[in-house]
Amino acid sequence: MASQLRFDGRVVLVTGAGGGLGRAYALAFGERGASVVVNDLGGDMKGVGKSSLAADKVVEEIRSRGGKAVASYDSVEAGEKIVKTALDAFGRIDVVVNNAGILRDRSFGRLSDEDWDIIHRVHLRGSFLVTRAAWDHMKKQKFGRIIMTSSASGIYGNFGQANYSAAKLGLLGLSNTLAIEGKKNNIHCNTIAPQAGSRLTQTVFPEDVVEALKPDYVAPLVLWLCHESCEENGSLFEVGAGWIGKLRWERTLGALVRQRNQPMTPEAVKANWKKICDFGSVSNPQTIQESTGGIIGLVSKMDSNGGVSTNHTSHAASTATSGFVGAIGQKLPSFSSTYTELEAIMYALGVGASIKEPKDMKFIYEGSSDFSCLPTFGVITAQKSMLGELAQIPGLSLDFAKVLHGEQYLELYKPLPRTGKLKCEGVVADILDKGSGVVILLDVYSYSGNELLCYNQFSLFLVGSGGFGGKRTSDKMKVAVAVPNRPPDAILTDTTSLNQAALYRLSGDWNPLHIDPNFSSLAGFDKPILHGLCTFGFSARHVLQQFADHDVSRFKAIKARFAKPVYPGQTLQTEMWKEGNRIHFQTKIQETGDIVISNAYVDLVPTSDMLAKTPSKGGELQSTLVFEEIGRRLKDIGHQVVKTVNAVFEWHITEGGNTAATWTIDLKNGSGEVYQGPARGSADTTLTLSDEHFMEVVQGKLDPQKAFFSGKLKAKGNIMVSQKLQKILKDYAKL
Ligand code: NAI
Repeated sequence: MASQLRFDGRVVLVTGAGGGLGRAYALAFGERGASVVVNDLGGDMKGVGKSSLAADKVVEEIRSRGGKAVASYDSVEAGEKIVKTALDAFGRIDVVVNNAGILRDRSFGRLSDEDWDIIHRVHLRGSFLVTRAAWDHMKKQKFGRIIMTSSASGIYGNFGQANYSAAKLGLLGLSNTLAIEGKKNNIHCNTIAPQAGSRLTQTVFPEDVVEALKPDYVAPLVLWLCHESCEENGSLFEVGAGWIGKLRWERTLGALVRQRNQPMTPEAVKANWKKICDFGSVSNPQTIQESTGGIIGLVSKMDSNGGVSTNHTSHAASTATSGFVGAIGQKLPSFSSTYTELEAIMYALGVGASIKEPKDMKFIYEGSSDFSCLPTFGVITAQKSMLGELAQIPGLSLDFAKVLHGEQYLELYKPLPRTGKLKCEGVVADILDKGSGVVILLDVYSYSGNELLCYNQFSLFLVGSGGFGGKRTSDKMKVAVAVPNRPPDAILTDTTSLNQAALYRLSGDWNPLHIDPNFSSLAGFDKPILHGLCTFGFSARHVLQQFADHDVSRFKAIKARFAKPVYPGQTLQTEMWKEGNRIHFQTKIQETGDIVISNAYVDLVPTSDMLAKTPSKGGELQSTLVFEEIGRRLKDIGHQVVKTVNAVFEWHITEGGNTAATWTIDLKNGSGEVYQGPARGSADTTLTLSDEHFMEVVQGKLDPQKAFFSGKLKAKGNIMVSQKLQKILKDYAKL
């Protein structure tokens, strides 16, 4: 066991320690060896009155438990006097917990000057005065720990607490600066926003909630933050009922809405509002330098490049061809890309997955036992880089009306998890001069934690910007490959719906070219066109269906060239050729015969590699042992069990949200059997749960019914019959 956190020799001052949270802190510090100054004015919760009783009682409690404590009856507005009590009694001051507090709740319109002032005097000014009185002593001894007490009211706002909210968040600002100023002298300052049952909250919380919110469930955080071994500084925590969480600031990547030498307008703000407020891409600045540094960097970039356009459809920005060479190798600001099942399903529907194809269910129904993201969803996680970030690269002042998406390459290193928070890093891999235009190769790497999940190469064609003397080819380029010169091995077709582009754009490509007739006619099309990447998704799905039995883990990579536009409502026809593990394909519009995706291929993972990768074979899953053991025991008693149960159970054991093993327990046929893989006939019940939860069920730690209702266990088919299985599993509890 870790050694106890002690405070022997430390002098701790807790303000407002006569009751509630402060009392809990004082007692806890006293128990762990600290000498405690128990400060409390002893008034009522509105700050009226005064009494020495409250502090005396707590001092007595500490002493009766063998601790050292003295009382201080002054208001926190007499900070110097309170700290002097500590110095007089114990000779030093090491820890200040600013906790004293009162309430004067009133709706804003009815708030008096007095209501405002007294709250600020006690909370904000009081914490300032007490802390300042201790500050120089802490500096001299090169040690100090300070706690400020904020509140969820300050962080989030709360009706009727304008005065209190303002003072409470003021404390956070105070703490943030003290953390910076105190750091070099080993003075740390942190802020807590507690939730506890006390006289301040007894009218707000019901009785049983008050019981769950004991002050004792807050005190341990305060003690830890005040311990000499704790390095935490300048942080904010919410704490209550035994739960503790840390908060930080999050900022959108925002948009630069100004052009050099041009006025900044409210219209430009409005036009960029979505981007300004888009929390899909964020940063978490931790210091003022990080915060202002980013903005200043962007502005100086603008000044040296003559303007940054963040308006993707702008016709105004010219293409600064001379900057192309300098842009090679430039990194895009990294951004995060978050998705849940909702985005994965929306994407699948956008590229034509449908309930008419039963095996598509796993892409559009999150309750499917083998729910999966379509592999080409991997482009969606990264496309933000192409749509927005690229414009911010110095030298690439792009006119997006002249940018065409020429080719796309995507490689997956493992199947995409069902939900994800990915970090994407983009780099301009190369820029090629094609005479009639310029090709920009944009590489984007998407990471989940430190693990590289997928790699995209966007190949963008800039019409009319060529001739700057650049190279014509690049070894960085993922090359498109011509399809074989023979009739295709397989053809699959799908008719897109009139709403296909309207649906697909919800996955993140909001370009009006795909929905707004005015815009598409400006761009020279009869009507809005389908996204090239939508057709790309249709085609990849066809290959997966035809050659990989919809198994996403067989998908390795895809390369495609966008040749012509498609209109929503047209029928896509994917022609496929199998050459080993490479499936070449091209996609045509059935009605016109036009090739819309050419020179394309999908690489599949060889089936031999798949076998080696099957985790259940490797035996890493704990459930494997249980299934094998059940199989062994069935050999003896199978006959009898089959008679009582008479059902087939298919198990999907998941790990990290993906199916890691499938097992069948057949208690219907012969004398029963356990084998790996889906049921050979049909299963009566299909059960899906994680390896960990499976083990908890087997060990009797998790009740299957509760697991079902809490969503840990998913069951399909005859659920009642699984109750019989529960009895059998229990027999393996001692495994
Ligand atoms: P409490 O009313 O039980 O304790 C506050 C103590 O401060 C009282 O004993 C009071 O006599 C003392 N006090 C008031 N004015 C004083 C002054 N001028 N000088 C010295 N002592 C004074 O309330 P509780 O809940 O323990 O609150 C402690 C702190 O936590 C307060 O700052 C409060 O605003 C904060 N807080 C509490 C929450 C909760 O859920 N209980 C929620 C968010 C913040």
